[in-house]
Amino acid sequence: MPNHKIAKTISCVRDFQNQNPGKSIGFVPTMGYLHEGHLSLVKRAVKENDLVIVSIFVNPKQFNQGNDFINYPRSVKTDLELLSQYPIDLVFMPENNEIYPTDFSSKVKVDKITDYLEGHFRPGHFEGVTTVLAKLFNIARPHRAYFGQKDAQQLIVIKKMVADLNFDIEIIACPTIREKNGLAMSSRNARLSANERDEAKILFQALMKGKESILKGERNSGKIEALIEKTIQESHSAEIEYVSLNDAVNLAPLTEIQGEILISLAVNFGEVRLIDNILLKT
Ligand code: PAJ
Repeated sequence: MPNHKIAKTISCVRDFQNQNPGKSIGFVPTMGYLHEGHLSLVKRAVKENDLVIVSIFVNPKQFNQGNDFINYPRSVKTDLELLSQYPIDLVFMPENNEIYPTDFSSKVKVDKITDYLEGHFRPGHFEGVTTVLAKLFNIARPHRAYFGQKDAQQLIVIKKMVADLNFDIEIIACPTIREKNGLAMSSRNARLSANERDEAKILFQALMKGKESILKGERNSGKIEALIEKTIQESHSAEIEYVSLNDAVNLAPLTEIQGEILISLAVNFGEVRLIDNILLKT
């Protein structure tokens, strides 16, 4: 089994970089509790780079509700076992005070595109994401960084931050990995009951219904959203937070559908909040 080094400190990552000059670095940032979705990013990074760094850090700044941070699933031992199946060079697993010392005072915020969707329903969330990624990018100094389409808005926000702030990093988008029944893989799925987990497959089915109606010629986004919502409501445990059709580039909400669009949703099953999306060209 390939063996990776573990770095708990930034100076350890620096040592690693100094020992490996001139090599291309692929970076996969995660919050751990790894599943096939994360591992698909790792596999791609391994294919495309000389060296691969994976980070595992549950970032408190991106959780807008304290309980969500506390309840976020963690399993370092299993994560390291899973990662040991791949030729990864370094796993960066910092403690909270390594990333946020007590006098930490900076913020990175992307405007406008963070007003919609997740940004609207989880105030402060993306500020937390961009702040930690700005730090992690400066620590890992990758040539390429890998992100999942599963978090569609996150991907768009990161691309904008990288462009606006001239990070010299290629952001690579990877497709959403799903369970056999269509449920998008997520660390949060572990907190669903068996019944909720089964019912949650309705999310992908509902997105597919939306897609079908667009392919049949429907262009009124209100009607498509209503169709998706009605489908989700067939599940008794689902509580819809939003279903939305947005421009896939600037995330502006759409009334009439045209061009490249993002259909996305956030739905609660019990205490677990799930998100999913599909991209579509008309
Ligand atoms: P986390 O939720 O752990 O996800 C890490 C990466 O895995 C993200 O790029 C996410 O989009 C991707 N991912 C998750 N589920 C996926 C799936 N089913 N298929 C494909 N990719 C999937 O996203 C975060 O962590 C954090 O916000 C982070 C970027 C690490 C910043 O803290």
